[in-house]
Amino acid sequence: MTGKVYEVPADWSKRAYLDDAAYQEMYKRSVSDPNGFWGEQAGRIDWFKPFTRVKNTSFDPHNVSIKWFEDGTTNVAHNCIDRHLATRGDQVAIIWEGDDPKDDRKITYKELHAEVSRFANVLKARGVKKGDRVTIYLPMIPEAAFAMLACARIGAIHSVVFGGFSPDSLAGRIEDAKSAVIVTADEGVRGGRKVPLKANADAAATRAGGVDTILVVRRTHASVPMQAGRDVYYDDIAKTVPADCPCEEMGAEDPLFILYTSGSTGRPKGVLHTTAGYLVFTAITHQYVFDYHDGDIYWCTADVGWVTGHSYIVYGPLANGATTLMFEGVPNYPSNSRFWEVIDKHKVDIFYTAPTAIRALMQAGDEPVKKTSRKSLRLLGSVGEPINPEAWEWYHRVVGEDRCPIVDTWWQTETGGILITPLPGATKLKPGSATRPFFGVLPQIVDAAGNQLDGACEGSLCIVDSWPGQMRTVYGDHERFVQTYFSTYVGRYFTGDGCRRDEDGYYWITGRVDDVINVAGHRLGTAEVESALVAHPKVSEAAVVGYPHDIKGQGIYAYVTLMTGQQPSEELRAELVAWVRKEIGPIASPDVIQFAPSLPKTRSGKIMRRILRKIAENEFGNLGDTSTLADPTVVDDLVNNRQASK
Ligand code: PRX
Repeated sequence: MTGKVYEVPADWSKRAYLDDAAYQEMYKRSVSDPNGFWGEQAGRIDWFKPFTRVKNTSFDPHNVSIKWFEDGTTNVAHNCIDRHLATRGDQVAIIWEGDDPKDDRKITYKELHAEVSRFANVLKARGVKKGDRVTIYLPMIPEAAFAMLACARIGAIHSVVFGGFSPDSLAGRIEDAKSAVIVTADEGVRGGRKVPLKANADAAATRAGGVDTILVVRRTHASVPMQAGRDVYYDDIAKTVPADCPCEEMGAEDPLFILYTSGSTGRPKGVLHTTAGYLVFTAITHQYVFDYHDGDIYWCTADVGWVTGHSYIVYGPLANGATTLMFEGVPNYPSNSRFWEVIDKHKVDIFYTAPTAIRALMQAGDEPVKKTSRKSLRLLGSVGEPINPEAWEWYHRVVGEDRCPIVDTWWQTETGGILITPLPGATKLKPGSATRPFFGVLPQIVDAAGNQLDGACEGSLCIVDSWPGQMRTVYGDHERFVQTYFSTYVGRYFTGDGCRRDEDGYYWITGRVDDVINVAGHRLGTAEVESALVAHPKVSEAAVVGYPHDIKGQGIYAYVTLMTGQQPSEELRAELVAWVRKEIGPIASPDVIQFAPSLPKTRSGKIMRRILRKIAENEFGNLGDTSTLADPTVVDDLVNNRQASK
């Protein structure tokens, strides 16, 4: 910790929507009178039929139920597109920047309306109706946003799957959502390399079954096999459907999307978000956290395959009539200056990215940044994992030239939008701290027994009351929702994160306290990687933990016990890494594999991960109590054979 505090810059206190006094006052009102506060905030969207009830929520584990604005009706696509047409039809809604710096495209709100309406009619032509699930497996091309909004327009529920996931991972999500339609592309392009999306979708469809349509957007025009009757090129049907498509009237609590995310146990969960509360919450957070003003060019570098892309590339910005930039590429292609060149090219005012990208670019030195101007920038953002103070300082000093505040935004797939964050005109910044709660958010830090801790303290982070953007259930498994989030600390939403609160009431997220790891901002369950490893015929047992990694934040350290008769070798190590990539996707590639004749277990057979974590972290001196182990000598072997981590 640098211990430094950054005051709100003078020009910001003049220009921003909210100063500190306004934040304090609005925050107090939001938590003391949530019905009044959110009832007013709901006025930021158009309603087809007004609601009469604002908040109807319960965190009681016997009856977890979350409803906001429940008897109102509206439509998300109407709010993100149609209602802007009269005032900003010719304003650019989406700036698309391709992987190749020569490729870009600007889409006005009027064009967005036409594209989304047509896409919606294509889905209808393939039989998609309100409530049906549509799987979207696309690269970062405008059609990803069109497809999401097209679903919203007709009341279909989208399930976007990150293009880096393997056919197996995709199949699991298709199956769980019972989705009969996949929207994909012939190929994706990232960092100059092709990604075989259609081939992956084919393999997934075969594995999952029940898929009757694969809609293929042409991105590279590569020739891909097309199965007659099932597979159709998007542009072929688009020509045949009308350009006009009315918006379906949706109940406030009708589902908008499912997004799968990893937990500490089992398969990824389908996080379900609904219509009105989600939109109100993403709109208000996008406006205040990024201090978004008309005319600003806003860029969030996330992929639409993650919640950040849903809430802060598509829904929040478009609900606010913003100009949102969508980037197909990666930070280091064609060079380490790419982000900064894109900022100069499109005159980006607000830039929102992940610590892992900042750390990687920081390692490349200042020169690739300094050769660009970045004078359009006025605000920087960070999301996805804790940002270490060194990376924060570099981002502030080199990228933002000491003039741009940094909003370090803490939230989760489950929360729908940002919950703990600075507001740039209101909050003094401390590098590494997500600072203070957003409106309507009541954080609580608890000890292991669930007792509320007060003042400066450290423990597990819970949220004690609902906010409109909160997930409503785990798709198809409400009991899992209750068990995962409301039973550890009864009556409270448990985030899975550890957190410290300092004497100024600032929150410092310390990372996950469960068996979830955060690798380069991607969330993974250690159990998922373990089950991929044990599916390999030569592996008998596996235990996976995270360890500190300079760039990725956390790396993946796997302890693997082989089947009797199998010998450890470098070839086998490479084979297992390749196997996990194939089973889950490249984001889950183990960084280190240590072959272990046996794993440390308690007498009841439970693997002691605490010890494995310490060994992976290189903290041998501090292994804690090992006397409960069935065979304490196992630990010596693990320590002696520890693999150097990269
Ligand atoms: O551990 C926290 C970390 O990311 C987790 C949520 O991951 P996911 O659902 O994939 O959503 C990521 C994008 C919102 C959290 O439980 N996390 C997210 N933002 C921060 C963070 N940790 C520290 N600081 C943050 N700003």
